[in-house]
Amino acid sequence: GDAYKGDYAHFTLKEIYEQPETILKAGEKTSSEIEAATDYIRQAKNIYITGSGTSYNSALIAKQILSKYVKIKTESIMSSELQFDPNIIEENSILIAISQSGESADVLEAVKIAKNANCKIIAIVNLVTSSLAREADVVIGLNCGPEIGVAATKSFTSQLVILYKIVQKLSNNDITINFEDFSKSISKTLDNPTNIQKIAKELKEISDIYILGRGINYPIATESALKLKELTYIHAEGIAGGELKHGPLALMDSNVFVIILNPNDSTYSDTLTSAREIKARGAKIIGVSDVKSDVYDYWIEMPKINEVLYPISEIIPIQLLSYYAALEKDTDPDYPRNLAKSVTVK
Ligand code: G6P
Repeated sequence: GDAYKGDYAHFTLKEIYEQPETILKAGEKTSSEIEAATDYIRQAKNIYITGSGTSYNSALIAKQILSKYVKIKTESIMSSELQFDPNIIEENSILIAISQSGESADVLEAVKIAKNANCKIIAIVNLVTSSLAREADVVIGLNCGPEIGVAATKSFTSQLVILYKIVQKLSNNDITINFEDFSKSISKTLDNPTNIQKIAKELKEISDIYILGRGINYPIATESALKLKELTYIHAEGIAGGELKHGPLALMDSNVFVIILNPNDSTYSDTLTSAREIKARGAKIIGVSDVKSDVYDYWIEMPKINEVLYPISEIIPIQLLSYYAALEKDTDPDYPRNLAKSVTVK
């Protein structure tokens, strides 16, 4: 069954490799729920999006794609922070709560605050029998099967697929996404892990990694940092490219690795400029891109795909890199120290 590792050494690896399939499964059974959600969103006065950990990074992506593709203004709020500024929630609005488990205490607390303000709740959740699902007016299941590894992998990409489906629906299908082709392109990345395994070896003695991305790639940078922290215990930090000169550039030297998320979208040339500035300080550059460049000391080739899907595509090699770096460092990728799969207490 789903909760067995099968031939994989760890659940985390298995769950990473399930993604070509889980990406197809997301939203397969949920078209009526997606329709119900879009009806609420269309009529909403205000829309808030919340989550914790990886699910908060999904909330950040949601905010950007809703604005970018369908001009809907939303606010993403960290679930754990909402209690300190509950007035941000206006009456009769919508809260989209994103959670793998549906049991994170902070997310449930955010839902409570929103419900007190008469808001409707849309839950994007893997466990459709969870507390969050019970509290929600619309429940959209991720349909990705149980996720055992503490670090979220397949649930993240499934959350993004659901969010893209919502955006697609809101655009009256103006945005065309071929999820089947996309799934195949992810299989290609997963079928060729050798390069990533080699790079993982280089990270063994490193104490600081930075991940840089602009625009839609910035939340992927923060999610990448989270994966690296959880799985390798290396200090990792996501940076919005333009902020480099406002602080992080001071930390760049030959002891540092920087991952550059640089797909061929509107952020491409500015991000390449950032990479050159970093390289000039002696740091090693890992470029994640569909375009090769001499700036990269290591190049992780992304498939050339519909630009809309770059964010989902670029997290996959980082998940793999974090996993293989964990093996190099001899940490347990499934059960990182001090962390729990779902944090049910505040
Ligand atoms: C914990 C897990 C993370 C997860 C976060 C939110 O911190 O270790 O992997 O992203 O909770 O969990 P949720 O189930 O609400 O998505």
